[in-house]
Amino acid sequence: MSKSKDLSDLKMKDLHQNESITGEKLIYPAATRNQEPILQVLKRFIICDLDKVCDESPLFLEVSSGSGQHLYHFAPHFPGVKFQPSEYDKSLLGSIAYYSQLCPTKNILTPIQLDVCNEFNSYGFHENSIDYLYNANMIHISPYECTIGLFKNAGSYLKPDALMITYGPYSKDGKITPQSNIDFDASLRSRNPLWGLRDINDLLKLAEECDLSLMDTIEMPANNKTLIWKKN
Ligand SMILES: C[S@@+](CC[C@H](N)C(=O)[O-])C[C@H]1O[C@@H](n2cnc3c(N)ncnc32)[C@H](O)[C@@H]1O
Repeated sequence: MSKSKDLSDLKMKDLHQNESITGEKLIYPAATRNQEPILQVLKRFIICDLDKVCDESPLFLEVSSGSGQHLYHFAPHFPGVKFQPSEYDKSLLGSIAYYSQLCPTKNILTPIQLDVCNEFNSYGFHENSIDYLYNANMIHISPYECTIGLFKNAGSYLKPDALMITYGPYSKDGKITPQSNIDFDASLRSRNPLWGLRDINDLLKLAEECDLSLMDTIEMPANNKTLIWKKN
């Protein structure tokens, strides 16, 4: 069964899409809009040539898969890569599994329930074993502890020189621009005081503590950015 919901383009309205009905395909309007621009960035950073992939398929772990749309859109473009979706919210696993099963290249694994604040070894991951860690739109829509967890786990569980890719809106030097992002930040904080846009300078400090460096910053549509972090 498939179910899509008709929502406007407003970011706060997108947020209200987080409710799910187990087993049903969810469509997040924001994910539909940003999946292609993000894919174009991934194509620059992911080794997808089957000949260049040695013994084992590289492992790409997504933290907070949401509806599951992103990996469904990305995976067919990287058939040599193994994609592991994950979500904190149990009620979204049905939609993620729906998309995973539909993937024509069959390289999306069964989604797992994962709280990024926990050490990844509690989910069976070994240190220095993940090739790509990907997270979209969680950093500003969760307490800062989740960002700390994401960076700490990246520092421990990514292979040396492997990449973490984070997507979303950020502030820089304590300043949020443009006005639409200021409004979005205010609306997030009014919904939950622990949410809100994070400053790239704070993320740089956190990254340093976790053995990660910011390798690239890519401007994205709708005043978002993709940040490419490298494990030292
Ligand atoms: C706005 S949604 C983004 C979903 C998807 N990545 C996207 O871009 O469409 C934020 C996600 O963060 C997840 N999240 C919140 N707390 C989390 C935690 N402790 N660990 C992992 N994910 C968490 C939520 O369940 C939610 O799916």
